[in-house]
Amino acid sequence: MENKNETTKEISRQQFLQYTAMAGAAVLLSSLESWALTTPDKKLKVAVIGCGSVSNRYLPQLLSSSMIEVVSLCDIKPERAVAQNEQYKVNAKTYPHIDAMLKGVPFDMMVTLTDMQVHGELNKKALLAGKHVWSEKPMANTYAEGKALLDLARSKKLRIWGAPAVVNSPQFAFMSKTIQEGKLGRVASAHGQYGHTGPTWSAFFYEKGGGSMPDLGVYNMATLTGLLGPARSVMAMTSIVNPERTVDDKGKIKVEAEDNAHILLEHDKGVISHVMCGFNYFDPHGHEAGSQSLHSIQIYGDYGNMRLIGYDWETNGVMLDTSWTEPAKLVCTEKGGYEWQEGARVVGESLVNGTEPRINVEHALHVLEIIEAARKSSATGMKIKLKSKFPWPMVK
Ligand SMILES: NC(=O)c1ccc[n+]([C@@H]2O[C@H](COP(=O)([O-])OP(=O)(O)OC[C@H]3O[C@@H](n4cnc5c(N)ncnc54)[C@H](O)[C@@H]3O)[C@@H](O)[C@H]2O)c1
Repeated sequence: MENKNETTKEISRQQFLQYTAMAGAAVLLSSLESWALTTPDKKLKVAVIGCGSVSNRYLPQLLSSSMIEVVSLCDIKPERAVAQNEQYKVNAKTYPHIDAMLKGVPFDMMVTLTDMQVHGELNKKALLAGKHVWSEKPMANTYAEGKALLDLARSKKLRIWGAPAVVNSPQFAFMSKTIQEGKLGRVASAHGQYGHTGPTWSAFFYEKGGGSMPDLGVYNMATLTGLLGPARSVMAMTSIVNPERTVDDKGKIKVEAEDNAHILLEHDKGVISHVMCGFNYFDPHGHEAGSQSLHSIQIYGDYGNMRLIGYDWETNGVMLDTSWTEPAKLVCTEKGGYEWQEGARVVGESLVNGTEPRINVEHALHVLEIIEAARKSSATGMKIKLKSKFPWPMVK
């Protein structure tokens, strides 16, 4: 009897989550909101795949939500799933393989935190099994693979989203509004940068499909396109500065993916932006951006400029300069609860609440297309046209 009730509840939860996939179906959404409001147990059941470094950031976020229950943990190094289950007192089932997890305890959304190169195939398996997906970046290895995932999700009335969550910061919202209100005048140029001396724990960051663009530059690309609009074309130079590395999981390895990249983006109305990222940047204090006045993003118009203090994923304020006579002012210093690792929690809660989050999968796909185009531009010396777009402006 108990089981039967559980099944009935499970089906209606599943229906609810599938219907919310139809973004824009306002009438349906409002009835789902009332479903959510009248259903006492509206917890979203989540499975986390990949229990390495970043899971230490994700698990506390997911566990902090009253709307989310983490029911499964999976890692091909199964001892890691077991260890995280214990360390964070998750009380989940643990699995050594995605296939076993998909056949195991039922869940609604998979959170993909594995090596970058397998995100696409794991995300596809989850969608085929009827699960929503939040994926760490990149959501797939190529734009075509990512677009096929989105098409698959839509055909199954499911949702998929990709990191990063930089558009959620109050500083992103402030900068977007400042541009939209014309306070910088006519925007012309922008720059973003992010680098450090590279991850030391896993080889995948340096193997084919890895690299400093999908690991680091991705944040700046999301910020600059989020603020300035979709890019129409890309020109880039990428290189490998350090051809050999020693990493914890494989010892000495050959570096196959770019560890140094400069990317030029052409936006509408003549706006040009630039991203530089790499794994050979001496920047030991950069991660302590909280105590720094350094900026990582700058935007220039003919009436003003602004600099994002800290990183775009860990924001500390905006230095706004709009006067010929007054000095620049530090504004928008509140974090408003934003944390870079919040993406899966935020989209999970949006599923439960029947609301649309600001993070947008087409934006993640656009950034993926930029990364692929940058590799192609660097290899051929050509300017590469992009085809993807996303709903913009992102802050209404
Ligand atoms: N570490 C960070 O601070 C950080 C921050 C932001 C984003 N990210 C992103 O998170 C992802 C993971 O990074 P990480 O640093 O946690 O790496 P990691 O190597 O520490 O962890 C990855 C884990 O995934 C597991 N895994 C690999 N293939 C798997 C498969 N097929 N099925 C199940 N498990 C599998 C590995 O065994 C490992 O435990 C990457 O996309 C990375 O860019 C990491």
